[in-house]
Amino acid sequence: MTTTFKRKHLLGIRELAAGEITHLLDTAETFRDISRREIKKVPALRGRTVINLFFESSTRTRTSFEIAAKRLSADAINISVSTSSVSKGETLLDTARNLEAMSPDCIVVRHSMAGAPAHLARMGNAPIVNAGDGAHEHPTQALLDALTIREYKGRIAGLKVAILGDVLHSRVARSNIHLLTKLGATVAIAGPGTLVPEEFGELVDEGLRVERGIEAAIEGADVVMILRIQRERQDSAFFPSMREYAVHYGLKPKHLERAARDAIVMHPGPINRGIEIASEIADGSRSLILDQVANGVAVRMAVLYLLAGGGRAELEDKGH
Ligand code: CP
Repeated sequence: MTTTFKRKHLLGIRELAAGEITHLLDTAETFRDISRREIKKVPALRGRTVINLFFESSTRTRTSFEIAAKRLSADAINISVSTSSVSKGETLLDTARNLEAMSPDCIVVRHSMAGAPAHLARMGNAPIVNAGDGAHEHPTQALLDALTIREYKGRIAGLKVAILGDVLHSRVARSNIHLLTKLGATVAIAGPGTLVPEEFGELVDEGLRVERGIEAAIEGADVVMILRIQRERQDSAFFPSMREYAVHYGLKPKHLERAARDAIVMHPGPINRGIEIASEIADGSRSLILDQVANGVAVRMAVLYLLAGGGRAELEDKGH
């Protein structure tokens, strides 16, 4: 099994081996403690520069990449479309090439177009991290979800995970399906037929089943993962109304009675309270939504550390 991560870019989970995923998670675990210290900073990436290039809005991902870079002592630069020359018509590739001319050690990219980070990785020189590309992949979200599951369940292999809601438009669902099945979990997806097509069953070789009703997917689940309705990616009506969606597919306390007694509830955020998830569940004792956010910093520290030129030996020398 692979025990190191030697890739230049992190573009998706699909292409990773189980050992690479585990190495990323193990590395993230070593960084988790730094965020709990009084002085939340280590010199691992001192002198390195990380550019966050976000063409779509973000609260959690952009902020946690910036915090991660700063906790590793890297210089973090944030670029948003509205304040960049993209608003004057500059292309994605020209933008990236101009940024590369300033010698960054890593560029973190979020874009509405599936494949945009891979395109930059092919055309440029800097390590690229995919921070979410269209409905394709969101690899660091799946890694932070896995880190959270490992923290609370002690393992991934053998767990039953239900992923519910707008699977069709969800890069989080795709990355999680790849990651969880590679690490030996079984995944059941469910939601309206228009948002959970049968073809999803072919996404991975094994470990995935498609259910129509959310009750069947939740039955015996150790992990219940709810997805946001991605209205910004829906070009037509996929269900009659939000009210109807909430009635038939929103997660309510009665649903959790079907899950394992110690089941945990996750959501990548942002949440639509009262639509895909009832407030009493989002704020309840089983909810790990804010733990996911906290683990996002550790995962992004690990990814930046491994891609932007930190060194395992150096990390161990510093005792963390
Ligand atoms: N989960 C997630 O990607 O959240 P943001 O869109 O706020 O980054």
